[in-house]
Amino acid sequence: MSTETVHPTYDYKVVRQFSIMTVVWGIFGMSVGVLIAAQLVWPQLNFDTAWLSFGRLRPLHTNAVIFAFGGSALFATSYYVVQRTCQTTLWGGWLVPFTFWGWQLVIVLAAITLPMGITSSKEYAELEWPIDILLALVWIAYLAVFIGTVHQRKTSHIYVGNWFYMAFIIVVAILHIVNSAVIPISLWKSYSIYPGTIDAMVQWWYGHNAVGFFLTAGFLGMMYYFVPKQSGRPIYSYRLSIVHFWALIATYIWAGGHHLHYTALPDWTQSVAMVMSIILLAPSWGGMINGMMTLSGAWHKLRTDPILRFLVVSLSFYGMSTFEGPMMAIKTVNALSHFTDWTIGHVHAGALGWVAMISIGSTYHMIPKVFGKPAMFSTKLINIHFWLATAGTVLYICAMWVNGILQGLMWRAVNEDGTLTYSFVEALEASHPGYFVRWMGGVLWVTGMLIMAFNTWQTVRSSKEATVDANPQAV
Ligand code: HEM
Ligand code: HEM
Repeated sequence: MSTETVHPTYDYKVVRQFSIMTVVWGIFGMSVGVLIAAQLVWPQLNFDTAWLSFGRLRPLHTNAVIFAFGGSALFATSYYVVQRTCQTTLWGGWLVPFTFWGWQLVIVLAAITLPMGITSSKEYAELEWPIDILLALVWIAYLAVFIGTVHQRKTSHIYVGNWFYMAFIIVVAILHIVNSAVIPISLWKSYSIYPGTIDAMVQWWYGHNAVGFFLTAGFLGMMYYFVPKQSGRPIYSYRLSIVHFWALIATYIWAGGHHLHYTALPDWTQSVAMVMSIILLAPSWGGMINGMMTLSGAWHKLRTDPILRFLVVSLSFYGMSTFEGPMMAIKTVNALSHFTDWTIGHVHAGALGWVAMISIGSTYHMIPKVFGKPAMFSTKLINIHFWLATAGTVLYICAMWVNGILQGLMWRAVNEDGTLTYSFVEALEASHPGYFVRWMGGVLWVTGMLIMAFNTWQTVRSSKEATVDANPQAV
């Protein structure tokens, strides 16, 4: 049965498309992650083939997990949430399918060009200028659809989740357009218009705010809708959510310089970034606490509801990574952590623990609703997925913490005569067990995602139909 009969007023087709692609790209991006993790354990796995080499597949992994998997989850949930909380269908007509097909095309082009070695060499902005232009057009269409939908809302106020989604879409548009300004010299090669240090500063203003707005603000939008919905409790404090919003927006934008400590960047900009990063702990934890406290009176549901577990554990990892980040932004700590696997551990505490877990929890909540089914095919399989994901994340980040601190300490150890105690290769050898454990963590994650695909497939093709949808009037 098509869901149009369940909700004649909502456009769920695009939500269904993006939800399915969230699962598909999740499997793809994480499998590439597992492959590059394996290459760091067994280097011969690049088979002496240029396009299979670590340097080419690493950006494929980051683009696939952040933009294809995370992006699809953000599109799916934002289109779902904005319609339900504004009590209206999506605005924009053909612009809506354009965002879906345009986004998929960007991803496919990325998956072809990155292994070919076509890259701008700016991290998280590797795509060359023709793809960047397409991406900008899709994003502006997304912005128009979202704002148009909010504008035609039937409700008096704009639910806070939509504020976060809106900030994410607007800021990512600005970041992408400013950071991608280049002079093309051929169809597939261009140079940044910014010189030297300024280029680095613009890049990390982009990079850090990609974390703040792509990997955080959008997912907070998700949190503000799906945590109350799944727990059946109203958000703990609406007032705190507004303070959280403005404090987060005002602080994130200053912190990018912490990626460039001890570089040619003026010292004072590094210090501003350090201070703003420490301040950032407060709004981040404000949001985390607001989400957690929403469970007051509903904690017992965690015993039986693995979807809620995904959502709550994601908040714990969000709290953890936003504590760790400000610590790593302190210059003296960064002197130890920078260039080491500690950064990789921090990234994945945020990426797997927070971003992937909240996306998966939200997707499990949404899939039966948009496909007109009473529930997911198997709650038991969701539970197995939850434990695989949690164990995988813990293995991954613990291994990287050990490796990171070990590398940082070995690299800086000096003998009495001032020579280095350890060679680089000795530190690399010491890292080997950690790389193996991280690879195992990745294997658990991909196994969980395959189970999710099976569960989704069974749900979608099941003949059961929802008789009543969860109250469509409720926010
Ligand atoms: C209060 C919040 C946060 C602060 C202050 C913060 C701070 C930092 C710092 C200091 C680094 C290391 C920079 C370096 O040495 O090069 C870093 C790296 C990184 N963080 Fe965070 N972090 C925060 C939250 C998060 C979250 C929630 C995520 C993911 C969802 C995340 C993703 C990343 C990524 C991807 C990098 C690696 C960037 C790169 O070098 O490629 N961060 N962060
Ligand atoms: C199966 C799960 C995953 C595995 C096995 C995995 C593995 C890896 C590996 C091996 C690297 C390269 C580390 C290095 O250069 O030393 C990496 C980098 C990275 N991954 Fe993942 N990953 C996984 C999932 C994810 C997800 C879901 C996200 C985002 C939502 C993500 C975001 C990133 C980012 C941003 C980097 C670059 C970090 C930096 O430059 O500091 N990964 N990943």
